[in-house]
Amino acid sequence: MRRLGVNIDHVATIRNARAENHPKIYDAARFAIKCGADSITVHLREDRRHINDNDLKILVSNKSIPLNLEIASNYKMLKAALKAKPNFVCIVPEKRNEVTTEDGLNLVKNKSIIKKIIYKLKKKKIRTSLFINPNLNDIKISKNIDADCIELHTGKISRKIKSKNNYNNELIKIKKCSKYAHSLGLEVHAGHGLDYKVVRVLSKIKEIKEFNIGHFIIGESIFFGLKKTISKFKSILK
Ligand code: PXP
Repeated sequence: MRRLGVNIDHVATIRNARAENHPKIYDAARFAIKCGADSITVHLREDRRHINDNDLKILVSNKSIPLNLEIASNYKMLKAALKAKPNFVCIVPEKRNEVTTEDGLNLVKNKSIIKKIIYKLKKKKIRTSLFINPNLNDIKISKNIDADCIELHTGKISRKIKSKNNYNNELIKIKKCSKYAHSLGLEVHAGHGLDYKVVRVLSKIKEIKEFNIGHFIIGESIFFGLKKTISKFKSILK
């Protein structure tokens, strides 16, 4: 069975709108796991616009929450990750003015620092993943710098499917990349912009073992609740 990772950054967005402590990040994480999420993802952004250091400290204190921490590729964020010791780390590119993670990592430019970060994380037995655009060269580099997993950025295919444009070329690309990564021994994940429709399409690619979904789950929960929303994704991924 493929795994569902629930990104709860936008629970923090709602909480931060009032600068108080409701809804609680920890409660959302525990509840999402109770509803069937296989892991929880949070992005500790450098500007702390979603979760903050204290949220992270509380989340990692509960060992029954499998936690996937997203961080930018620099030593300051590595230090924060090593201190928190989550189960998994996904390295993502980060731009201060972006609304969301717009792109995959530039591995050609940053492979040296990312290789060092992966080494340090793996020494602490933290599973490492790289958020990359679906292209074969980045997969090859991911393998060369010893990542455990890759997470393919699905923003482009998501936009095409949602706007009813032809997504065939993008699907072929993602399929090819998934098969190639799998053949190299990299675990394949997918994330960004995913909704029911997009996950139905991508779930046909058997090499994708984990889907990380945030915005749609939190938005849909306004109407149907986290339990129903998570259950629906889980049944698509069966
Ligand atoms: N995966 C990664 C690496 C992300 O950075 C994000 C958030 O940008 C997601 C998955 C979730 O994306 P979304 O909120 O669009 O579902």
